[in-house]
Amino acid sequence: MAELDVMLFPATDWETTSTRANVAWILEDWASVVPSGDDSLIVRHQQDALMLRWVLRGLDAEAYQVLKTLGERRSVGSVVRAAETAGTGPGERLVRELNRLLSGRILRLSVGSPGSDARLTVRPASRTARMSLPLRMPRRLVRLSRYVTVGRASDALEVRSPIRGFVLQSHGLPIGNLLDKTAHRACDPEELVDGLRSVSREDAVSLLAVMTATGVLGEVDDRGLLAEDQDEILIQRQPADVAFHHASRLGLHVGPSGATFRFAGSLPPTPALRDGTAQAQELVKLDGPGSWLEAGEVSFTEVVARRKSVRDHGSEPLTARQLGEFLFRVARVGRVIPVEDGNPRSYECSERPYPSGGGAYEIELYLVTSRCGGLRRGLYRYRPLEHALEPVAASAAQCNMLLENARMATGAKESPQVLILMGARFARLSWKYENMAYATTLKNVGVLYESMYLTAAAMGLACCAVGNSDSGLFAQATGLRVEEESSVGELTLGSLPDRDREGGEG
Ligand SMILES: Cc1cc2nc3c(=O)[nH]c(=O)nc-3n(C[C@H](O)[C@H](O)[C@H](O)COP(=O)(O)O)c2cc1C
Repeated sequence: MAELDVMLFPATDWETTSTRANVAWILEDWASVVPSGDDSLIVRHQQDALMLRWVLRGLDAEAYQVLKTLGERRSVGSVVRAAETAGTGPGERLVRELNRLLSGRILRLSVGSPGSDARLTVRPASRTARMSLPLRMPRRLVRLSRYVTVGRASDALEVRSPIRGFVLQSHGLPIGNLLDKTAHRACDPEELVDGLRSVSREDAVSLLAVMTATGVLGEVDDRGLLAEDQDEILIQRQPADVAFHHASRLGLHVGPSGATFRFAGSLPPTPALRDGTAQAQELVKLDGPGSWLEAGEVSFTEVVARRKSVRDHGSEPLTARQLGEFLFRVARVGRVIPVEDGNPRSYECSERPYPSGGGAYEIELYLVTSRCGGLRRGLYRYRPLEHALEPVAASAAQCNMLLENARMATGAKESPQVLILMGARFARLSWKYENMAYATTLKNVGVLYESMYLTAAAMGLACCAVGNSDSGLFAQATGLRVEEESSVGELTLGSLPDRDREGGEG
């Protein structure tokens, strides 16, 4: 019997080949769907190093037939019509199974006229991806979601829809037109389709349907609001925060994530320690452990109990010896671990008192001193191997602004005696890690905060983290390129206020 070229499934708009359909549902290469009895199918797919297998049992005739065909032909087509025909569209079970295949990231969609190179490819990015089916022309005015981001991916225009968990890549289809119009106002779907003159009406309808089904666009209610505008949890989350979270966590984005060593062999890893610009005689040597290690130490239990944020400082300033002890306990380099010969993935590491992702220790410490022992007021960089301070040529005005910003952020009465700034040398981590380098840096900032807080508590010093600080001012003061090294955390440090000192008043 001759195989049918086109077969529309009864009661659906599904076809076994794409000769008429302009939406193709494509099974990814790493997956298979094979029959197992009259109403069951076995789905196998590879996920990382694992082979997964699940059985779809008790399927109705429609779901069984469409999914079995998908397994046999690797692709089935569907048609989106501008006017809905009563009784068409996939049934509930087929919708459920298609969304399971999507969230398993083994099914993708391709939109575009058969025979044309212009395409929109839709991939699920998240394990929670969920498409509104059936694909249909929107019935109400549509508006662009606030959470959508647009960028370039290789040679495609990439649109990410993190809330629904999809990523759409366009090669030559006029989706920019839809994004632009719906960013300004809620638009009539018919008007949008009419505006897409460079593609067929069928393609225009399919584009609109797919962009709505994947949450790039949404239908608004009578007040002009999208569902996302009325979600009390979501409205509290800013698009950039959502995008960063999705981009840096496995299971919420497509593409590689982790230690992929993208640049091993093509670019040299940055050294463990930043080059100094100062001459040896300009360095301010700090006290080593000899002078204070014998002193009576408080128990860890007491350190943890004492730890708190103290924003004001005492009348007696922090001494240079205390600053030396603090920096030695928190951040000195014990040893530099050299690159392994012949291993392109090896990079110089170092040993320091706190843990740090990949052992890369990308965070440099800078200090603005206002009142600290015999130290001149100014900006310094801590040299963790030499346990010394290197003067940085910042202006007095820049130092004052950095100090004043910290005073205001902590609500302190006076400028901090010392302000510690953490500068991250981004390439230390981004040479090795993909899609998680910056997230790792922010975790490392948290680690350093706690280490500094506990050290200050053990030493009887006052410290307070500063949650928001001016990285532009840091760039001006240090002369560093923001893309290369930028401030990511700050902490004020000083002597305990007189009232909190042992034997102090009240
Ligand atoms: C990441 C982070 C940012 C912070 N930012 C500020 C800040 O900008 N201003 C401030 O006064 N305190 C800041 N703090 C201190 C918190 O307010 C403080 O840790 C919290 O209120 C608990 O009090 P405690 O540290 O005394 O236990 C910050 C703490 C952390 C960990």
